[in-house]
Amino acid sequence: MEIRRIVAAYFSPTGNTEQLAKAMAQAIAQAEDLPVETIDFTRPQARDNAYEFGREDLLIIGLPVYAGRLPNKILPFVQENLKGNAAVSVAFVCYGNRSFDDGLSELVYEQEHTGFRPAGAAAFATQHAFATELAHGRPDEADLAEAKQFAVELLELIRNTEDSAELAPLQVEGNTPPGPYYRPKRMDGEPAVFLKAKPVTDTEKCIQCGTCARVCSMGSIDPVDVTQTPGICIKCQACITHCPAEAKCFDHPDFLSHKEMLETNFREEKKNRFWIATLCK
Ligand SMILES: Cc1cc2nc3c(=O)[nH]c(=O)nc-3n(C[C@H](O)[C@H](O)[C@H](O)COP(=O)(O)O)c2cc1C
Repeated sequence: MEIRRIVAAYFSPTGNTEQLAKAMAQAIAQAEDLPVETIDFTRPQARDNAYEFGREDLLIIGLPVYAGRLPNKILPFVQENLKGNAAVSVAFVCYGNRSFDDGLSELVYEQEHTGFRPAGAAAFATQHAFATELAHGRPDEADLAEAKQFAVELLELIRNTEDSAELAPLQVEGNTPPGPYYRPKRMDGEPAVFLKAKPVTDTEKCIQCGTCARVCSMGSIDPVDVTQTPGICIKCQACITHCPAEAKCFDHPDFLSHKEMLETNFREEKKNRFWIATLCK
């Protein structure tokens, strides 16, 4: 099968998913001598657009796992704004070294139900947005090299396929349809309830550059007074990660206890996982 268009699409508030999507797309683009198009749907304005794909297109799509599933506020974009029309895809998730639970199986399921044929799927262990000691610094050089190697192997499979319909449905780890969202826990094992928590601003440190308002994945921070977050907060940590003055944090006790629980119990380094489709008999 000929590929004529390569698109890297990602939701990536703290940048890990973006790095991996681009690494895989570039590895294939280089081998095929094609440019890479990107659809960065991290910010709300970008999620107003809809995209059509076709038989000669390859979509590389990545999202982070939130509470063991795909981020629920972003799911409608994946379900409604990307139309496969039999395009081949590579579906992957990033997770912060706890577990990807049903995040990857949910993405593969959604891709199959929106007209894509996933040729491969992957789950990458990447630095946890809350608990930054977990998978700290990942994706690192070795992870990116592994991702590129996987992409090149997939390209081989795609080249040896006449039509995307020849690719058998992909079986990945996780439930289909996905199970309930993971419920965060505190250090004492009780549920950590921080749904309503919002970032707080250290006004001594804040230089009022407006970065936090610009990068907020929900467009919820007031650009005029960035200490105010009138909209919904999904705790994606974009404002904290991108603030050049380190002026933002979450100080909610249950959030902090959950972070400590994660950093205590999920330190063991996880391996990246890969799945490649087989051909229908
Ligand atoms: C709201 C939220 C929920 C998360 N839930 C999980 C989870 O259930 N399991 C896990 O291992 N990591 C979890 N993570 C960690 C992210 O999946 C991880 O940090 C990922 O690398 C973020 O991707 P990004 O850098 O592209 O934003 C969560 C992060 C956030 C912000």
